[in-house]
Amino acid sequence: MNSAVRTINIDREPSSGDFRSAMRHLAGGVSVITVGRGKEVAGMTVTSVSSLSVDPPTLIVSINRESSSWPLLKRYGFFGVNILTADQLDIAERFAGKDGLKGADRFAGAGWITRASGVPLLVGALAAIDCEVDDIVERHSHAIVIGRVLDVQVSSRTAALAYWQGQYVAIDQNKDAIRLAEVSLPAPRAPREIDKPISKHRP
Ligand SMILES: Cc1cc2nc3c(=O)[nH]c(=O)nc-3n(C[C@H](O)[C@H](O)[C@H](O)COP(=O)(O)O)c2cc1C
Repeated sequence: MNSAVRTINIDREPSSGDFRSAMRHLAGGVSVITVGRGKEVAGMTVTSVSSLSVDPPTLIVSINRESSSWPLLKRYGFFGVNILTADQLDIAERFAGKDGLKGADRFAGAGWITRASGVPLLVGALAAIDCEVDDIVERHSHAIVIGRVLDVQVSSRTAALAYWQGQYVAIDQNKDAIRLAEVSLPAPRAPREIDKPISKHRP
């Protein structure tokens, strides 16, 4: 067995705490789900968006059925997926309910447009995906929502916002590609230094 893998539980059912500790290691891209139309709108920060199929284009997201977005998602049958850039951390916090705002108040201070479905889509998101609800599987506290993609808008920006180990992390394609190249390419060799017998360096 790989010695890096630590078994955290052997003789009991995994607790929700065990499960949380495991899931902290799963880095997730941060998106805001938007629902409703007009003044009757709501939204929430999520990391559970995942592609389901490319042909036809469908995706899934897991939504807490206690959240303020859930009733509007069910009523209208449409939702938006707004994939956040690294500089939209404040939007992520607001739509996670951190400053206590609800409904339309969460949308203040950012630009929003509507497309086919009528739900608000974030101007300046890395990508904004307009979806129609295709199916819903309600399980436990959450519901798996399958969305059929109606419209897609993609930005040329590249720095994404991820969530990992309980904190937000910026992923910048340009900066991180340079850092990756630095650690994965062997450093230029200085043979004469390196090849010297170690004993010679010792007093
Ligand atoms: C980084 C992050 C990811 C989250 N991902 C999800 C998710 O995938 N599904 C979910 O139901 N809630 C998720 N939440 C929690 C919701 O954002 C939060 O419960 C919701 O916005 C607040 O509920 P309210 O709209 O009823 O105030 C996440 C929160 C954070 C900070």
